[in-house]
Amino acid sequence: MSKELSRQLLEESKDELTPIEELRNRRKISRMGGGKERIESQHSKGKMTAHERIEYFLDDDTFREIDPFTEHRCTNFGMDEKTYSGDAVVTGYGDVNGRKTFVFAHDFTVLGGSVGEVVADKVCKVMDQAVDAGVPIIGLNDSGGARIQEGVDSLVGFARIFKRNTDASGVVPQISAIMGPCAGGATYSPALTDFTFMVRDTSHMMITGPDVIETVTGEQISMAELGGADTHADTSGVAHMACESETEALDSIRQLLSYLPQNNMEDPPVLEPWDDPTRSCDRLNEIVPNDAKKPYDTVDVIAEIVDDQSFFEIHGDYARSMVVGFARMDGRSVGLVANQPRAMAGTIDIDASEKTARFVRFCDAYNIPVITIVDTPGFLPGTDQEHNGIIRHGAKLIYAYAEASVPLLTVITRKAYGGAYIVMGSKYLGADRNYAWPMAEMAVLGPRGAVNILYRRELTAADDTDAKREELMDDYREEFANPYKPAERGYIDDVIEPKKTRARLIDDLDLLECKRVDNPPKDHGNIPL
Ligand code: HXC
Repeated sequence: MSKELSRQLLEESKDELTPIEELRNRRKISRMGGGKERIESQHSKGKMTAHERIEYFLDDDTFREIDPFTEHRCTNFGMDEKTYSGDAVVTGYGDVNGRKTFVFAHDFTVLGGSVGEVVADKVCKVMDQAVDAGVPIIGLNDSGGARIQEGVDSLVGFARIFKRNTDASGVVPQISAIMGPCAGGATYSPALTDFTFMVRDTSHMMITGPDVIETVTGEQISMAELGGADTHADTSGVAHMACESETEALDSIRQLLSYLPQNNMEDPPVLEPWDDPTRSCDRLNEIVPNDAKKPYDTVDVIAEIVDDQSFFEIHGDYARSMVVGFARMDGRSVGLVANQPRAMAGTIDIDASEKTARFVRFCDAYNIPVITIVDTPGFLPGTDQEHNGIIRHGAKLIYAYAEASVPLLTVITRKAYGGAYIVMGSKYLGADRNYAWPMAEMAVLGPRGAVNILYRRELTAADDTDAKREELMDDYREEFANPYKPAERGYIDDVIEPKKTRARLIDDLDLLECKRVDNPPKDHGNIPL
């Protein structure tokens, strides 16, 4: 509601209202944000208002608003007549499943949710309080970005928010929902948070919009193709999930929070177990096809191992040759990382490396053990991958596992070849346990690649090259296509029957509950970015 109108309402009622009634009146005005018309316009786009989002997101009647009466101080461009009680963001705290969380939600009905000095003050205040209290901070973004009328004050406001995002990283979980436009530098605050959820059709993220792109490069592209939820969930990886609706996004964030501790000093919450920890996973004995080239769905393996119905996949549409997500084992939170043989045969490419490295680092920052399920022929070969830096990006995955101090449990179900064997939570990168199923194969190269290199001369000299190659490949398989060579050397702690995997991992998680790692103190490492 504009200053003029709210002033008028307050003036009209001043004489008749008691102080308590005046407070209630002021609250009502603040809650109306940009007024009835703009609220209707927001609804007509299928969007909730900032207050409605917060109320849907938090447990009933737990929202405590902070700073509902702040007003911007800008007088440029007639802004003194465009003041709104609370300005363009609603901030405060409340409960999610009985645990506290801070929240801020841009109010698009007020100057397009744009961020000026006072909006930034409000966001920074709740971020500071979230860190002090050790509770997560959730941002519901719906904003035209830096408030143009406030000039450099707006830019400084963003810089202050980015600094806080960075300081809070690894201290309290930060989660963003994008529920409208998110343009320019404003995209970087969500990008600095741990997880970003977008809403299909109504949300967009981009550094520069279609008009600027056409002017500069001549390319024509729609908003949705450029920065819609699906684009960011499956192509750029900026979003961890594309949701059908605002309510689905908010429900998903509530679910995600249920796996996480409140801060880095806490352990994740443990639920009352509902699935037998010693349950035999009989299906797993049959799940890996005898033909090593035949794919299977690694999500089926995960679903068998973890507590019933507890797997929550993250980043599922991006870099699909790797699956990551949270689950529970006997009620405890765990992070799951698994190669997906159904996508690109489970090879690891640049995107999969980055997605997984970031996930492992998140788990490590928040005391969540990581279970890794390995079935990969190796890194994806190709000029494109090499020229785009698979060496640099693959190194992130090594770094993430090697620096992790949480319990790390790894199960090799089938193929673990080359560098991919090493990077997928192998023992000497610091994993606590490496198990293999009896059908596991571990070697420097797959049979064909190895034979072509080792026996080049013999193959050239052979009368029937293909037959000779098959024979040599059989010998190679005999030597390496089983888990017993590495088990002889203790690189594999045990070869286990697939159906016993769940019980074994839960035992290990019990054992490692108090795992402690002492590394030399340092400011921070230098992960290859
Ligand atoms: C001030 C803004 C605003 C902004 C929107 N509004 N963006 N006011 N500063 N950045 C106002 C509009 O004037 C309008 O006011 C109301 O919000 C709703 O906007 P509409 O354009 O009517 O809505 P819609 O058609 O839905 O379009 C939304 C939009 C568009 C796509 C966000 O408004 C837009 O393109 N805004 C500018 C985006 C932008 O370039 N921002 C700066 C990015 S750079 P009235 O009173 O008419 O209702 C940046 C730098 C950050 O953010 C740097 C950090 C390092």
